[in-house]
Amino acid sequence: MSTSCDLVIDRIGALVTPPGPGPHAGPAAQGALETTEDAAIAIAGDRIVGVGPRDSILGRFDPKRTIDAAGRVATPGLVEPHTHLLFAGDRSFEMERRLRGESYAAIAQAGGGIRATVRWTREASREQLVRDGRPRLDAMLDHGVTTVEIKSGYGLDLETEKRLLEAAAELGRSHPVDVVTTNLAAHEIPDDRRDDREGFIAYLTETVLPELRPLAEFCDVFCEPHVYSVEESRRILTRAKELGYAIKVHADEIEPSGGAELAAELGAVSADHLGAISDAGIEAMARSGTVAVLLPATALFLQLEQRAPGRKLIDAGVPVAVSTDRNPGSSPCDSLPLCMTLACLEHGLTPAEALVAGTANAAAAIARADRGALVDGLRADVVLWDVADWRGIIGHLGSSRAALVLAGGQVARDRT
Ligand code: NIG
Ligand code: FE
Repeated sequence: MSTSCDLVIDRIGALVTPPGPGPHAGPAAQGALETTEDAAIAIAGDRIVGVGPRDSILGRFDPKRTIDAAGRVATPGLVEPHTHLLFAGDRSFEMERRLRGESYAAIAQAGGGIRATVRWTREASREQLVRDGRPRLDAMLDHGVTTVEIKSGYGLDLETEKRLLEAAAELGRSHPVDVVTTNLAAHEIPDDRRDDREGFIAYLTETVLPELRPLAEFCDVFCEPHVYSVEESRRILTRAKELGYAIKVHADEIEPSGGAELAAELGAVSADHLGAISDAGIEAMARSGTVAVLLPATALFLQLEQRAPGRKLIDAGVPVAVSTDRNPGSSPCDSLPLCMTLACLEHGLTPAEALVAGTANAAAAIARADRGALVDGLRADVVLWDVADWRGIIGHLGSSRAALVLAGGQVARDRT
């Protein structure tokens, strides 16, 4: 007797998925994909209830509706575990300054960079932030992304950080992409508090972090010698942990300062960037199980000297994820598939490792064990790709190959 369900996606040419939710650590697990040819997926509500060869799924389920995949490749919906999606203003002119020889840190110290975006964002209403954020989220969905982490961090005061997190929540309620929020009030020291670091850090730990706890699941700090030192980051993140936030760290992006070691020490869910991570940092992360989030578009766009050692991290047993780092300064990039390609070309991952990095391990980097693989019981986030071989998702630069995107069991994009 067959079971009724809402939807069957039939005639999938090849269904390609990690074997289950992440984190998948080490070369064997991070590179393991399961492939089923001539497959189908059964969905009830927002959950996957059956995955397998189409004969077996069609025999077991009686769907209300069928989608014909017409031989396309199916993967889990992609996950973006690191974005600064909400901001005002435009910093595209900074690229020209960098091309003339100014570094990212030098532009920041001269009052540009993050602090420039903060000045514009403080002027933006919540409505404007939502209005500007929506097409950015649309662009991610176009690339097969069904979950996006959004950080605050362009306010650096209670009022604006709150507005950013409320705008992120509003987008999450009104857009098919699922949104996860992170408090990154410790993204910089604002212009008006540069003579009072201690006072500003106390304001963060005693006012901003406690007040915004209901609006954000994670707390993140930009731990880098020209921003927050390891000691300052430890103080902020220890307080965040007391308040019940899960922890993330922008760590060792440009200079090695022990940010990865700090992330491991505090049991952070993820440490991100890692272009200048030390061997001790790699070992510490492998021991703590902290997910390493590679942000390849950022290293490329800033023309940083070093690339995060993706190969070495995987070989050392650190679970590796990938994200765009979408932001107005260091990564104006909407395409997670492009970042997966760069993870292979510039960070030494194999295509299979990159697909796990953009699905199951990316979900692990935001503590979501309910997605990132096409298996029974997980969220029905599915992408049908217009490619002959799944490697075409990664072996393609630029435009999106995502033909149909299902988010939580609902069709969110249909370009079939
Ligand atoms: O992850 N590194 C810190 N924050 C962002 C950059 C934000 C910006 O430049 O506006 C990043 O690259
Ligand atoms: Fe970032």
